[in-house]
Amino acid sequence: MTIHIKNNVHWVGQRDWEIRDFHGTEYKTTKGTSYNSYLIREQKTVLIDTVDHRFSLQFIQNLEMEIALDEIDFIVINHAEEDHSGALAALMAKIPNTPIYCTENAIDSITGLHHHPEWNFNIVKTGDTIDIGNGKQLIFIESPMLHWPDSMMTYLTGDAILFSNDAFGQHYCDERLFNDEVDQNELYEQCLRYYANILTPFSSLVTAKIKEVLSFNLPVNIIATSHGVVWREDATQIIHQYLEWADNYQEDRITIFYDSMSNNTRMMADAIAQGINDVDANVAVKVFNVSRHDKNEILSNVFRSKGILVGSSTMNNVMMPKVAGMLEEITGLRFKDKKAGAFGSYGWNGGAVDRIHTRLTDAGFETMLAMKVKWKPDGKAILACREHGRQVAKNWALQELAGQSLLLKALDEPVQSANDDLTVTHADLQQNMLCTVCNWVYDPQVGEPNQDVAAGTPWHEVPDSFLCPECALGKDVFVVIEKERSA
Ligand code: FEO
Repeated sequence: MTIHIKNNVHWVGQRDWEIRDFHGTEYKTTKGTSYNSYLIREQKTVLIDTVDHRFSLQFIQNLEMEIALDEIDFIVINHAEEDHSGALAALMAKIPNTPIYCTENAIDSITGLHHHPEWNFNIVKTGDTIDIGNGKQLIFIESPMLHWPDSMMTYLTGDAILFSNDAFGQHYCDERLFNDEVDQNELYEQCLRYYANILTPFSSLVTAKIKEVLSFNLPVNIIATSHGVVWREDATQIIHQYLEWADNYQEDRITIFYDSMSNNTRMMADAIAQGINDVDANVAVKVFNVSRHDKNEILSNVFRSKGILVGSSTMNNVMMPKVAGMLEEITGLRFKDKKAGAFGSYGWNGGAVDRIHTRLTDAGFETMLAMKVKWKPDGKAILACREHGRQVAKNWALQELAGQSLLLKALDEPVQSANDDLTVTHADLQQNMLCTVCNWVYDPQVGEPNQDVAAGTPWHEVPDSFLCPECALGKDVFVVIEKERSA
């Protein structure tokens, strides 16, 4: 199957709905992907890139339904990674002397991957051109480290098509090829995921390369990527989006991720998140357990965030392994201009939190004081976590915080821990009890009939076996909140 792109240019690529892992298991392709190859038929017939080696047979069958393979005058390989050069060996077996145009670095990687140094390689550099007839030329633009040292882009004059390879692409599969045809939210999400997880370390190069391309003053009507959609409607929108993402991008967002042995660090994470929200209702707070959530989604959220909070229980005096792995990934992605803090529950020692703090600092984050809780957080500890979250919100606010919630006013005043039963001197029918984890409120005048707690039961008479109906935690996470303030 081919898809018409413009004039004598057709897509001859391969869709891959099934793929779920890329770069080993480092990138979860939740929406599949495509390997985009293009056939240009002017006076010269040119193939731009191939497809993943697993689809060599289909790729060649497909091409042979369009043209006799020996009609291909030359092949351009913009990038040698096997998802693009993978079918080259099968193709070259049929047309062995066909010239291949690529960067010098690509010869190294193509030869290293395919073991055919005898292939007819031709090195191109930025600004080199090839006349393909009918008044059209190909112009080559090296783009090293976007995202491999061998990467380049190819520009087709006349049709004003930029074959950008990985840059501006997404791991996204849809039977519709063009950007204006697909679900825009899905497309944006996958573009961001791709940038955040693959291109973030090279952001300064992204900016420099885009400025270089723009300095050529070439019109760009279509951006034909090697993965996902072809940008034809407002094609340069993705270039402007990349410039924004490359400029130390952040939103008013805080990402919290953790791993938790006994749910204690999780309780801290939830309380800290609520504390942030107490103070700043505008900030988006996202909470992830690294052992349960998609790693790439977490990293995408880190990319979008002004700051992150990283938690772990202490195990063998170090952090839990999945948290350590995430910190290694974050270090490699070289995020800039972001704040961070560590937190965690511990039993015998708190080594994990100190190690997280050090790792975050070493990774270039502006770190704040860490937060530790010994054993399972009681009501006082939960309040302390919540207060920690409130301080985070205040210190990291992007704009002056206007107005405070009624709940915040209540929390600004001294509050007794539910553990301190003897100090709860107003635990009567005029006092509600707030679950500090989920905000469910116990009203003594209502009771909790589902747990046989009759209306009119003051908190100190509620049995110790009582569990919060929302989050199933015990009485120790409840604090007093005066009824008129909880209304
Ligand atoms: Fe799509 Fe770098 O390979």
